[in-house]
Amino acid sequence: MTKRVVILISGGGSNMISLVRSMTGDHPARPCLVLANSTGAGGLVRAAEMGVPTEVVDHRLHKGDRGSFEDVLHGVIAGYKPDIICLAGFMRVLTEGFVDRWQGRMINIHPSILPRYRGLNTHARALEAGETEAGCTVHEVTAALDDGPILGQARVPVLDGDTPEALAARVLEMEHRLYPAVLRRFAAGDRTPVWLG
Ligand code: GRF
Repeated sequence: MTKRVVILISGGGSNMISLVRSMTGDHPARPCLVLANSTGAGGLVRAAEMGVPTEVVDHRLHKGDRGSFEDVLHGVIAGYKPDIICLAGFMRVLTEGFVDRWQGRMINIHPSILPRYRGLNTHARALEAGETEAGCTVHEVTAALDDGPILGQARVPVLDGDTPEALAARVLEMEHRLYPAVLRRFAAGDRTPVWLG
């Protein structure tokens, strides 16, 4: 049966776009919702243009009460009966309580070669450390930040004179290849990691 996919975003949603575009033809999944934690997320317009329903659960209305935010988030998502949740540039840390409810069904893309550079500012930190390669990772979401079983990884070279922005752009191109490749496999029930680059 076709799997239903919810995609969570916070920004422009370029990864979301690559995921939505990939779910055609014999793909085992289809997008059923794009949800953002802010009305300002540019990806919402792009999702609507592609014919995908959108919702906003604004974390700011919960004034720092993570539990209250996540209860509403969970309720809205559950209403769409997803089989898979893809975090795609979703910039809210999710607590164990939320993650547990979707364990094994929620995946994330992170712009580093995990386990290196969990958290923010990955590209600046990789350059600072003198890395010769960088990349991105898709992993199952567990309660620990940017952790969980690796489902795919892609590598790009660090070039002389790279800035964090230049490196981020090179990695993002790979994200757009890696995430759809992993989702296709994951939706088919195959957790064998995808390796690119
Ligand atoms: C991507 O680099 C993603 O890995 C990171 O945030 C960025 C989001 O980009 N977590 P987009 O919104 O998918 O364009």
